[in-house]
Amino acid sequence: MSEKSHYGLLKGKKGIVFGPLDESSIGWQIALNAYREGAQIAISNIATAIRFGNLQELADACGNAPVLVCDASKNEDVDACFKELKEKFGPVDFIVHSIGMSQNIRKQVPYEDLNYEWFMRTLDVSGISFHRLVAYALKNEVINDGGSIVALSYIASQRNYWTYSDMGDAKSLLESIARSFGPRLAKRGIRINTISQSPTYTKAGSGIAGFEKMYDYGELMSPLGNATAEECAEYTMTILSDLTRKVTMQNLFHDGGYSSVGATIPMIKLAYEVLHDKELAKRVDLDEFYPSR
Ligand SMILES: NC(=O)c1ccc[n+]([C@@H]2O[C@H](COP(=O)([O-])OP(=O)(O)OC[C@H]3O[C@@H](n4cnc5c(N)ncnc54)[C@H](O)[C@@H]3O)[C@@H](O)[C@H]2O)c1
Repeated sequence: MSEKSHYGLLKGKKGIVFGPLDESSIGWQIALNAYREGAQIAISNIATAIRFGNLQELADACGNAPVLVCDASKNEDVDACFKELKEKFGPVDFIVHSIGMSQNIRKQVPYEDLNYEWFMRTLDVSGISFHRLVAYALKNEVINDGGSIVALSYIASQRNYWTYSDMGDAKSLLESIARSFGPRLAKRGIRINTISQSPTYTKAGSGIAGFEKMYDYGELMSPLGNATAEECAEYTMTILSDLTRKVTMQNLFHDGGYSSVGATIPMIKLAYEVLHDKELAKRVDLDEFYPSR
């Protein structure tokens, strides 16, 4: 157990986290923090991730948490997963979707040339799977009244980030699904939100072309700096807890202030210095990107 304070925010609650892979994963940190906040936890991932990741280590650290195999893009898997969860735990109080994948990004396909089969897969695995989790949780009566459902998102759902490619489209869909489900779940006091996290060094994150540049840019543009996976998990605890019972249908930025910033002094200083240094300026060829200006 770390030296950090824990508050018993999830004492008496049960939940499942989809998507932990290794210690760097946001889902890993969420599962660990939920356990430390007093929850009984199950974790889930696809079979290959369970085989090649170290989920058993996480399961052990979370009080022998059940590890459920589930491909979130398959109806039958999700259905079976919730049936198994119900058998083991009964209905749960929270569900966390921490899943993302794009073959187009992995293979660095330009957005203009997207492979549409992969594009559909990106939307299915990274967006529609959120709908599937909620739908099958409801069908199997596995989510309690007053529960909380959360998915992880990124600001590229709303603003253009060149190399985030079709994942930006998947994140728009993900956030929209949260809004569409909101009023339907509200009848039972269930909340549904997305948390929009800073760039974070994880398996999925670092697969994006130029990720380290996006990370450094985020650092320069966030008054509080980029948020880590662990900090994201800590924030998520409040959203899963009873302290946020009236927060629903929101896309909640957890990004050190990045999303509200127009410019920061360090960023302006850097840009100014680069653009007025003849040698450095040659390396930033504006004409390459904006030839029509
Ligand atoms: N890393 C970042 O910079 C960042 C920033 C904002 C949001 N996010 C989001 O956080 C979430 C977690 O990603 P991460 O960064 O922790 O990376 P990660 O690689 O640790 O987690 C992604 C997980 O998705 C799982 N997955 C892929 N296909 C699946 C499927 N068909 N069914 C079930 N699971 C599947 C993977 O096995 C993996 O465990 C994703 O939604 C990601 O888009 C990440």
